Amino acid sequence: MKRSEVNAIMRDADAFLREHKFRLPPFAYWKTGDWGAKGGEVREIVDRQLGWDITDFGSSDFERVGLFLFTLRNGTLENLRAGRGKLYAEKIMVVGVGQVTPLHFHWDKTEDIINRGGGKLAMQLYNATEDEGLADTDVVVSMDGVLRTLEAGGTVMLNPGESITLPPCGYHKFWGVESRVLVGEVSMVNNDNTDNRFYEPVGRFPQIEEDEAPLYLLVNDYGRHYRPGG
Ligand SMILES: [Fe+2]
Repeated sequence: MKRSEVNAIMRDADAFLREHKFRLPPFAYWKTGDWGAKGGEVREIVDRQLGWDITDFGSSDFERVGLFLFTLRNGTLENLRAGRGKLYAEKIMVVGVGQVTPLHFHWDKTEDIINRGGGKLAMQLYNATEDEGLADTDVVVSMDGVLRTLEAGGTVMLNPGESITLPPCGYHKFWGVESRVLVGEVSMVNNDNTDNRFYEPVGRFPQIEEDEAPLYLLVNDYGRHYRPGG
């Protein structure tokens, strides 16, 4: 993706979040130069990959296959192993009409996906087979505390206020319907480097072509600009 495209998506998503009275934390608006001056006190943000996360999943067509995410909080693997501390994560996402997040599951993470306003969120579901294929078995899901049974590959529609719990190894694919959707994610500790199994191979973090200066850093930019003590 070009940096100019990433910057435009950031501006646009930030305006959409504000329209919906959803505000990002202060570090969202730190500039590249601010990051260069930060020390060890901000390590939690970097180590846990909090912040702006924009991906076209390698499609080169963000509007059709892509996702805007901002990770607001996240725990660590050590927390998980110890069974205490920050065992949870939260993201905010923006999903466009017909903008697909490809079919995937998480080996470890259980996540609730929440429609926080705007249009409807469509979600297609499959169970995974032992060898990570698509099972033809019925899918049983909890939606706001109510169990529903769907045929393999069935689609549920989340209206504003509705949510769904996705257990580990449950394939899901989603997209917006009627109008852009503000989507929340509340989950167990999140590791996007190791815990995404896409049914068809995709790129999770895009290569950025630097055609202008970054508006704000993406989580995958921290390595180049944050050098505590350096
Ligand atoms: Fe997911």
